[in-house]
Amino acid sequence: MNVLLIGSGGREHALAWAIAASPLLGKLYCAPGNAGIAEIADCVAFDIADHGTVVRFCRDSSIDLVVVGPEAPLVAGLADDLEAAKIKVFGPSREAAQLEGSKGFAKDFCTAHAIPTAAYARLKERRAALAYLERHPLPVVIKADGLAAGKGVTIAPTQEAALTAVEAYFSGPMGAGGIVVEEFLEGEEASFFALVDGAHAIPLASAQDHKRAFDGDKGPNTGGMGAYSPAPMVTPEVARRAMEEIVWPTVRGMAQRGTPYRGVLYAGLMITDDGPKLIEYNVRFGDPEAQALMLRLKSDLLSALLATTDGVLNAFDLRWYDDAAIAVVMAAKGYPGEYAKGSEIRGLDAAREVEGVEVFHAGTARSNGHLIATGGRVLNVAARGRTLSEARARAYGAVAKIDWPGGFCRSDIGWRALKRREDAS
Ligand code: AMP
Ligand code: GLY
Repeated sequence: MNVLLIGSGGREHALAWAIAASPLLGKLYCAPGNAGIAEIADCVAFDIADHGTVVRFCRDSSIDLVVVGPEAPLVAGLADDLEAAKIKVFGPSREAAQLEGSKGFAKDFCTAHAIPTAAYARLKERRAALAYLERHPLPVVIKADGLAAGKGVTIAPTQEAALTAVEAYFSGPMGAGGIVVEEFLEGEEASFFALVDGAHAIPLASAQDHKRAFDGDKGPNTGGMGAYSPAPMVTPEVARRAMEEIVWPTVRGMAQRGTPYRGVLYAGLMITDDGPKLIEYNVRFGDPEAQALMLRLKSDLLSALLATTDGVLNAFDLRWYDDAAIAVVMAAKGYPGEYAKGSEIRGLDAAREVEGVEVFHAGTARSNGHLIATGGRVLNVAARGRTLSEARARAYGAVAKIDWPGGFCRSDIGWRALKRREDAS
């Protein structure tokens, strides 16, 4: 079968790598892709926001399945338009993608279905928001209601910081859809993934992301600087509760609304003393979590994606390696602020020779035979090992072989899990 993958990041390279290994695959296309994906798929350049063009491409190239990597095309209804054209698609409809696209929708949905999450209020205008904050305990969490690429959240430790944040939201585009004010949850964060076919759900795996730019979880928030899987604080009991208290009520609730959820459901969890609570939904794989997850997946990814779109997940037996996996993100110096584009990267072949390592590209391109950086997050050096320590040593061994003066990475990916082990011994 022929597959079209939508996206251009490290997540999509990892998905392309797993799909390319499938015995079911005929031809793999990716729009728009990157220099790494181009080594295993035909990268095609068209405007994915133009759904008519996507549908035409699928017909012309006999595409049997479209796999959508990022959230924006889903929120924009790409899955709906493909389905209307009778083209199979992995990824939720526009209505179902609201779980990520609107924080307010997600919070109201949690309330309606008794899904554990932080207490909250949706506020549409500045004056009401300021009045509400006067009475709210500190710290307080303030979020833009719409999609903000991870940049729409403020954790305010003081009244003053909260009031300043509210003024800033409502005087710019982020406040246009209103804001959500919520209770601050105490605990450790984890990412939990499940496949959902409209009526059934099966757990994938857990992971932990590192959102801050610098070592020790310091510096500004980013899209994610590294991840590992599994996350040890997601014990079998926490995973069971996440499925029972969060994933299954979501599947049933979305079906009841008449907007069944199909695709991968990513629950951003806070593991609190009372168990897992939902911080946010995402309607796609995490990036860089997917890079670690794909290295641990033993089953054929394409078969699992098809079982999801075909509604037969209940009969699907998904297998994992017991190994740990890690992904270290290499980003352009200056990211997530301003950074230069066009610097050259060398040494990837040597890095790939390290045992257990795969290098997944994000913002890369080829120019006159040279590999150059074209984005903020540029490479993901991913590795599998029997233990997290082994995977981590392999990944950083490979990082050391990459010659890219224009880039940087964190040197402590996985530290929470390793510390937990040290504390326990
Ligand atoms: P979100 O975009 O909703 O995932 O929020 C981004 C980050 O803000 C999360 O990964 C958490 O680190 C933090 N955060 C969001 N909501 C809360 C909350 N209610 N309590 C504590 N931290 C939160
Ligand atoms: N790694 C966080 C995300 O994909 O949203």
